[in-house]
Amino acid sequence: MSRKKLLEVKNLKQYFKIDKKTTVKAVDDVTFDIFEGETFGLVGESGSGKSTTGRAVIRLYHPTAGEITFDGRDISGKLNAEGKKFVTKNMQMIFQDPMASLNPRMTVMDIIAEGLDIYGMCKDKEDRTQRVYKLLKTVGLNEQHASRYPHEFSGGQRQRIGIARALAVEPKFIICDEPISALDVSIQAQVVNLLKKLQKDFNYTYLFIAHDLSMVKYISDRIGVMHCGQLVELGSADELYEYPLHPYTKSLLSAIPLPDPDYERDRVRIRYDMNMHDYSKEQPRWIEIKEDHFILASESEEVKYREEIEKIEELKKIKSEIKI
Ligand SMILES: Nc1ncnc2c1ncn2[C@@H]1O[C@H](COP(=O)(O)OP(=O)(O)OP(=O)(O)O)[C@@H](O)[C@H]1O
Ligand SMILES: [Mg+2]
Repeated sequence: MSRKKLLEVKNLKQYFKIDKKTTVKAVDDVTFDIFEGETFGLVGESGSGKSTTGRAVIRLYHPTAGEITFDGRDISGKLNAEGKKFVTKNMQMIFQDPMASLNPRMTVMDIIAEGLDIYGMCKDKEDRTQRVYKLLKTVGLNEQHASRYPHEFSGGQRQRIGIARALAVEPKFIICDEPISALDVSIQAQVVNLLKKLQKDFNYTYLFIAHDLSMVKYISDRIGVMHCGQLVELGSADELYEYPLHPYTKSLLSAIPLPDPDYERDRVRIRYDMNMHDYSKEQPRWIEIKEDHFILASESEEVKYREEIEKIEELKKIKSEIKI
């Protein structure tokens, strides 16, 4: 199957100059592609640079260095009015805290229709109303909700409004920045299922940002693991689960609880310490260690990781033989 790259990010750097002496390297040389119609998960602890990556891609910042190509078009440089429109219309964002991202003084109708108005997408007022009604239905709300204000809704409903607003301008690419972290666990699955259903129906491409792997593992096709502004490992969800190589990925995986008492009793949380890498003599590079599986590794780490892959493969072989 040939997959179309919708987004290509190459050596992206996003630095923030705090004062004369201090520069925060929020994103430091990150490379990844996102294919059309897939969910690309980005995980990592707080402050690792996930949101900054998303915000740089959507061009809320001017990247310090690197290339961003979206739908075959370079969007990393200075954008003119038409370029800005291309980016904002085709790339939308859904935020963690729907209350903070929805204007409390606007009705749901006006919140959802804002993008439609900006891009002149409605024929007339009736068309505008009908489009908003349809969007409300798409996200599991109804026409009566249109005249209400954000504070009249529950957290899950507000997130649905945020999703409807993002969908209104018919984007190709949606960045979901921790869209469920602020919601009750019981509501989280509903919102995730809605996002997945929308993807199936409309072939959306998602960048899904989260702290931990628990939900991301189930909804992502591929996952990038971020640490301190860098990607440390990238692969399909199954690949990372079966062949986790980087110690930070292993630590994230070991943090996922499972509803299995036996597993839970024996589950050991692996702690990650950056000092376990000795990069004083050899610099780490971003390499393809296995097909479609990338890792940040020095030369000696690469050797070690290749040995680990062989071991996992041997173990798999033994397991399959036992089954027979
Ligand atoms: N506008 C900014 N100016 C200065 N520093 C910033 C700015 N935005 C982010 N940072 C810094 O960049 C680093 C990465 O922040 P970012 O918000 O991308 O992390 P994150 O992975 O999204 O974290 P979280 O999981 O907490 O949302 C942090 O050290 C943060 O303080
Ligand atoms: Mg963030």
